[in-house]
Amino acid sequence: MCGIFWYKWKTHNIKDVLLTWLKRLEYRGYDSAGMAFLKKWEVKVVKALGKVANLEEKLRNITIDNSFEAGMAHTRWATHGGVTLENTHPHWDSGQSIFLVHNWIIENFKELKQELTKKGYSFYSQTDTEVIAKLLEDNKKDTLLKTVESVLPLLEGAYALLIFSKDFPDEMVAVRFGSPLVIGFNDQKEIFFSSDTQALAGFADKVIFLDDGDVVGVKGNDFVIKSNGKLISKAIEKIDVESLKAEKWDFPHYMLKEIFEQPEVLKNVFRGRVDFKSKTLHADAFRELDKLDIQRIVFIASWTSYHAWIVAARWFEDLVGLDTGVEIGSEFVYKNFKVKPTDLYVFISQSGETADSIEALKLVQAKGGKTFGIVNVVWSTIARVTDMGMFTRAGTEVGVASTKAFVAQLGTLLLVALYLAYKNGIAKPEFDKIIEDLAAIPTKIEEILYRENANIKDIAYQLVDYYNFFFLGRHYQLPIAMEGSLKFKEITYLHSEAYPAWELKHGPLALIDEKNPSILIAPNDLMLEHNISTLEEVRARKGKVVVITDSQAIKGDWNIKIPSTNRFLYPFLTVVVSQLLAYHAAQKLWREIDKPRNLAKSVTVK
Ligand code: F6R
Repeated sequence: MCGIFWYKWKTHNIKDVLLTWLKRLEYRGYDSAGMAFLKKWEVKVVKALGKVANLEEKLRNITIDNSFEAGMAHTRWATHGGVTLENTHPHWDSGQSIFLVHNWIIENFKELKQELTKKGYSFYSQTDTEVIAKLLEDNKKDTLLKTVESVLPLLEGAYALLIFSKDFPDEMVAVRFGSPLVIGFNDQKEIFFSSDTQALAGFADKVIFLDDGDVVGVKGNDFVIKSNGKLISKAIEKIDVESLKAEKWDFPHYMLKEIFEQPEVLKNVFRGRVDFKSKTLHADAFRELDKLDIQRIVFIASWTSYHAWIVAARWFEDLVGLDTGVEIGSEFVYKNFKVKPTDLYVFISQSGETADSIEALKLVQAKGGKTFGIVNVVWSTIARVTDMGMFTRAGTEVGVASTKAFVAQLGTLLLVALYLAYKNGIAKPEFDKIIEDLAAIPTKIEEILYRENANIKDIAYQLVDYYNFFFLGRHYQLPIAMEGSLKFKEITYLHSEAYPAWELKHGPLALIDEKNPSILIAPNDLMLEHNISTLEEVRARKGKVVVITDSQAIKGDWNIKIPSTNRFLYPFLTVVVSQLLAYHAAQKLWREIDKPRNLAKSVTVK
């Protein structure tokens, strides 16, 4: 999604800092990118469509010497208006005095634009951001901070803004209202504003996390933070810069690197939380859960994270005996839901910044619901706003198609389920057996990665001759079929659909023939016999089938072998196969695997 950044020069070269930051953010949204550089009475703007490399190329011919004191940058993922240079940020007012970059959406921009047009303003872009620039021009006061404060009440929607003006060259204003923004600091007393904490690695090691409604006025080397018109103070927090870095090493794509990291990621999830010898579980969050009387768990998330939820819901039903509800954030917000004191609302998100999940979280909290976050990005909004929670410890995930974050979500969720199962009196031998089998999961994933990868690649290369695919699974494997299908379509651009295996006969069977292959996820669990029937049903219609299994009793046109494990733990293994299948097919088709078209890593807009 879009990203915004501002930097006031002291030691680093301003052009280099802005470029480094844009490259780090490129994976989030990359239709176009732009920068503005400011010195007294002069602003230089550079914009380019497509990759940041295009902007870099343009910048080669432009001199930005150290007389430029500050700069702002933006990566754009088009929402209002097409992918054009005019629509690329930064935007400005009629006199080219005020410059701003903006994340998220001004919902009443059409009404505001109409009023400004009546007053004689004209517009060069289709963006809602340009409307803010013209509003600022229309409401100019004697300082930039006052100007911005007078305009904010007119804006409806959610946004983060960074604004500077040639008329007030020693001022800069930042606003957070529903879209992430942090202030970064370092020992050289430089100030950074960034919509992404991680992208500050190497530049800042201390941050202030802004909250919705915060307005920051920078003047010279000082700044003030205001909320509801009053000055407030906020804690400066130290961040662990090393953990923010993500390198690709020798892998051709981040996605493949992240798939191969999964055994280590799971070990990290378990570290300090599972004592495999004594078969006991430990986490601060468990002590918080002990204080609650939970009768129902409602899971809220968006797509890949939502698939992790569905697996987890089965664990909470089977192992803990709890009622569960699984909700997609974007749909949940329209529901007339009731919160009971015995409900726990669990939000899962890799980024912790998904707008739909955050909106749902606020609605739940407004009704007094208890909230628990399962989040990867430590400094994210969901991590900070939920009442309690656990981190998934997957490390930075760069590939837009989520892989290791999903497996880390599964691992973390299983630990919570096992802890509650233990409290609810699960039979000790069953509990011990699951813990014992869990210890072996990282090695079993390695077996798939190092023994089966060549076979998966071979099959994937043959699959790209087809155009439509069905991913089929039952019970624990249905969410894995959904995740496998999502990954496949997301990075190959080939059409795929996931179905509960038996539902084929309620409609989709009409499409089964030799041209539309199926991927049947059929481990040796309680569903095996049913899956054998599904296989026969598909093959009777000449449908070709890839079978993912550890059983000798089921054979498809292509077979992918997985190690055997506990029936509750197969999702950790089958999902890795589905990731590799998608990866190799996409690689055979020369797709942009780490940055699939039209997608962004973190969906911070609604
Ligand atoms: C697909 C993918 C997305 C995300 C979804 C939620 O590979 O990554 O479906 O899972 O946008 O994102 P988070 O988990 O950051 O809330």
